[in-house]
Amino acid sequence: MKVFITRIIPESGLELLRSAGITYTEHREKRNLSPEELIAACKMHDALLSVGGNKIDAAFLEACSHLKVVALMAVGYDNVDVAAATALKIPIGNTPGVLSNATADTAFLLMLATARKAFHMHKVIGKGEWGFFEPTANLGMELNGKTLGVFGMGKIGMALAKKCRGAFDMPVIYHNRSRNEEAERLLGARYVSFEELLKNSDVLSLHAALTPETAGKFDAEAFSQMKPSAIFINTARGAMHNELHLLDALQRQTIWGAGLDVTNPEPMNKNNPLLNMPNVAVLPHIGSATVEARSGMARMAAENIIAGLKGAPLPYAVNNP
Ligand code: GLV
Ligand code: GLV
Repeated sequence: MKVFITRIIPESGLELLRSAGITYTEHREKRNLSPEELIAACKMHDALLSVGGNKIDAAFLEACSHLKVVALMAVGYDNVDVAAATALKIPIGNTPGVLSNATADTAFLLMLATARKAFHMHKVIGKGEWGFFEPTANLGMELNGKTLGVFGMGKIGMALAKKCRGAFDMPVIYHNRSRNEEAERLLGARYVSFEELLKNSDVLSLHAALTPETAGKFDAEAFSQMKPSAIFINTARGAMHNELHLLDALQRQTIWGAGLDVTNPEPMNKNNPLLNMPNVAVLPHIGSATVEARSGMARMAAENIIAGLKGAPLPYAVNNP
């Protein structure tokens, strides 16, 4: 049994595959495979371990209906046509949970970096513009006691809410498809409508999945309802915000600042004006980029491959064909 792996992945996953007697081919070049290349590679393998945003759409799945399993090394599966996979009886796996803390840490980092203009200040020093101490310049804002708004209260949203309560005593409000009673009980989180979330959040952080309902949800109309002092944080998927509308909202001071680990499109162009705004912090999609999270994700993806190749149910399944 042979697996095709679309990127170099941590040893923890490869080791597990080897110990199960599974051979693999890694795509080791630092570029995305084209859809045609991915199909051609998968034709020679029994399973796919997919990292990055390769489209696992109906056309791909139909061309590769022989695959016994597709294991994503990611929690988000917006790049997969799950209904098509289920119809073709191809099990899809993902890696939830193990990256929740790392991703919440990234949101926390962006909140603080944005509130204190930290990335901009770092650049100021590098440009030799650090002149003298100015009591009225470079002022940021404190997070203590500010209201955290979570859009999409799942595992990552809860991990962030817990950190914010502990570190800054932040009251938590959230909006979700359904109530999260655990978050309400453990974190005192209060369920609110989408409009109330926009109006009342001092920091609004996105942790929902990208779906037709959440795509483009944060546009000019949404930003116009937020506080002028609000910070917008996105570590989920760039396609949930309209980036031109976001830039406009920041330039007009409709909102105060933004911290992005995901952009729309990705990668962000190096000339994007957002990169030169003091109240903006941008990272290149490193939400889960810790040794702990990535080695755990590789292990979970390998476990899904091993189960799928045996015809057993996946331990971390997206569908159940
Ligand atoms: C990364 O973006 C993931 O979905 O794990
Ligand atoms: C947000 O509305 C979600 O569905 O998670």
